[in-house]
Amino acid sequence: FGVENCLIEVNPGNILLPPKYEEIGERILNLEVKFDDVWLVSYPRTGSTWAQEMVWCIINNLDYEGAKLLSQFRAPLLELTALFGNDKREWKNALGNSVEQVENMPSPRCIKTHLPWDLLPTQLKIIKPKIIYVARNPKDISVSYFHYCNLIHDFHGTYEDFCELFLHGKKGIASTRYEKIIWETFRHFAYLFMRINIKKRNYEYVTAPVGNIWKHVSEFWKRRHEPHILFLKYEDMKKNHKQTIAQVSEFLGKKFAEEEINGLIEHLSFSKMRQNPAINLEPILEKMYDSVERENAENKFIRKGQVGDWRNYMSNELSEKFDEMNEKYWNDIDLFFDN
Ligand code: A3P
Repeated sequence: FGVENCLIEVNPGNILLPPKYEEIGERILNLEVKFDDVWLVSYPRTGSTWAQEMVWCIINNLDYEGAKLLSQFRAPLLELTALFGNDKREWKNALGNSVEQVENMPSPRCIKTHLPWDLLPTQLKIIKPKIIYVARNPKDISVSYFHYCNLIHDFHGTYEDFCELFLHGKKGIASTRYEKIIWETFRHFAYLFMRINIKKRNYEYVTAPVGNIWKHVSEFWKRRHEPHILFLKYEDMKKNHKQTIAQVSEFLGKKFAEEEINGLIEHLSFSKMRQNPAINLEPILEKMYDSVERENAENKFIRKGQVGDWRNYMSNELSEKFDEMNEKYWNDIDLFFDN
């Protein structure tokens, strides 16, 4: 394996992405943006699925019947196609080309993306549709992402190994129960890429988290006062869900009665979302791992849903390294997560 086989360099931003991105990257940059679109942008594992369901329900006047459709078909992740590598199996084909799907969606469209500011459609910056950005404490993201990589990408390194990649950029090889994982970070911090080759199942998978989280967030934090941008923090959603729903509804020009809001809170509750196959990606995961017994059935896409879980994982030393990154990138712009 060589990194040259699994990654391409994308400018601007010097971000490495899977080769599949080449097929859609240009198309994404040139995507026709509509004024009544709602864009949900976030770094992975920030609670974006939770926010995505909230936003979709609000735009669609709490249509819980319609919400039974798999979320990828209602509020697609724009770059999903790039993340599936060359896996041509039926379930993947069923998901189709995510960019094409967005192009053909009826308005008002709800579009989710993890791409950083530089790689978003050019028209987004001109047409200025509503953009909701979701952020979360990087320490909690690192824990959540670690479990996610373990679940989806069969990452078998330790949490400390993962944080080394997340923070500093390293190369390495790890063994798995199938074959081996080649993982690679590039340049710095969270440029983490994995190429997983599970020969036993003839399965090749390439994915890419989307660059330095501190920069990803900064780009939106500094634009948060623009009227078409709403900046949300996962921690605030947890602390006062009702207020977040009110804030988002107002931002999207919707108004709901008290009991409707209570119904939405129930629909979005952690326990309901965890059981909801349209949201929790379990149907996709089941297909991905159909012939394989998952080692840790408790480790789900919607995992724990807590603020401050990093305290159960991080040593003081590691926590300080994250604090240094926060300080380096966010001190001047006054961005803090108080947990
Ligand atoms: P944890 O792994 O810390 O539990 P994303 O959707 O961006 O990948 O983010 C996933 C994170 O959001 C996971 O965090 C997941 O549990 C959390 N999450 C999803 N639905 C939630 C809900 N209804 N309430 C609280 N947290 C939720």
